[in-house]
Amino acid sequence: MGLPLIMGVFFNEILFGFIYLSFVGFVLKGCDGSVLLNSTANNQAEKDGPPNISLHAFYVIDHAKKALEAVCPGTVSCADIVALAARDAVHLSGGPTWVVPKGRKDGRISRASETRQLAAPTSNISQLQQSFSQRGLSMEDLVALSGGHTLGFAHCSSFQNRIHNFATTQDVDPSMHKSFAASLRSVCPMHNKVRSAGANLDSTPTTFDNRYYKLLLDGKSIFTSDQALLTNPTTNTLVKKFADSREEFEKAFVESMIKMSSITGGQEVRLNCRFVN
Ligand code: HEM
Repeated sequence: MGLPLIMGVFFNEILFGFIYLSFVGFVLKGCDGSVLLNSTANNQAEKDGPPNISLHAFYVIDHAKKALEAVCPGTVSCADIVALAARDAVHLSGGPTWVVPKGRKDGRISRASETRQLAAPTSNISQLQQSFSQRGLSMEDLVALSGGHTLGFAHCSSFQNRIHNFATTQDVDPSMHKSFAASLRSVCPMHNKVRSAGANLDSTPTTFDNRYYKLLLDGKSIFTSDQALLTNPTTNTLVKKFADSREEFEKAFVESMIKMSSITGGQEVRLNCRFVN
């Protein structure tokens, strides 16, 4: 499947959702499309787990699946569709493209409780390192893949910890640029009532570039987990390398995306991405 199938059906914020989806779909079982399964009467699925409440536009994957089933029944897994959609979303935003290894199988199990294995936006560097190494991913993969935050948007609740009641003596995370923190506090007040409120993950949120790393070095990253990349000598050096060279970032990002999406573990090619066969 190439660009044309996907291009007709999704744009902008929907687009970035797929890159994020390719990451949050990556619980310990691997990239097996388990994040696409619906909850049932007896089981709360991953997509309804606390970190995944902002996932949306599953219907786009449904459209792609329907088109594929019409021409090649039972052949392309939902897990492969997510990996391809993430690749195309990056490329359509001005980033690199790559050949996605295919042949993943879809899993039959999806549990909301397993989303606790995912790294949290409040994670520190050792938690991030542990979460990635459990999946066979290195510190370089961590820094390169965090560059996915060159695109998209975060809700206030995801970075609330940095801008209100950060510590007993400091309301705001002191590692944040002062006026940047002030602007986040103005859109996300302490008792925010606007569920859709939040901030873009970088200042060029629709362009896949290395701006994320430059902003990170300037104290203008959104999550604790972004800022954490500066607190370890290895990851700090990599942040500087990627801030200096978009080419180096893109090369590392592609390698790490292929690595991340090659960790698989399913059993079947689902006929409908929302339900097991
Ligand atoms: C390192 C660990 C990571 C953490 C803790 C993390 C956390 C988050 C959180 C909390 C959000 C915002 C959710 C919301 O408030 O709506 C988000 C958004 C996003 N993340 Fe990550 N993420 C991580 C890694 C990644 C990776 C590896 C990628 C892709 C390669 C990625 C791509 C994205 C994108 C594109 C968005 C924006 C989604 C949209 O606009 O709909 N993230 N991330």
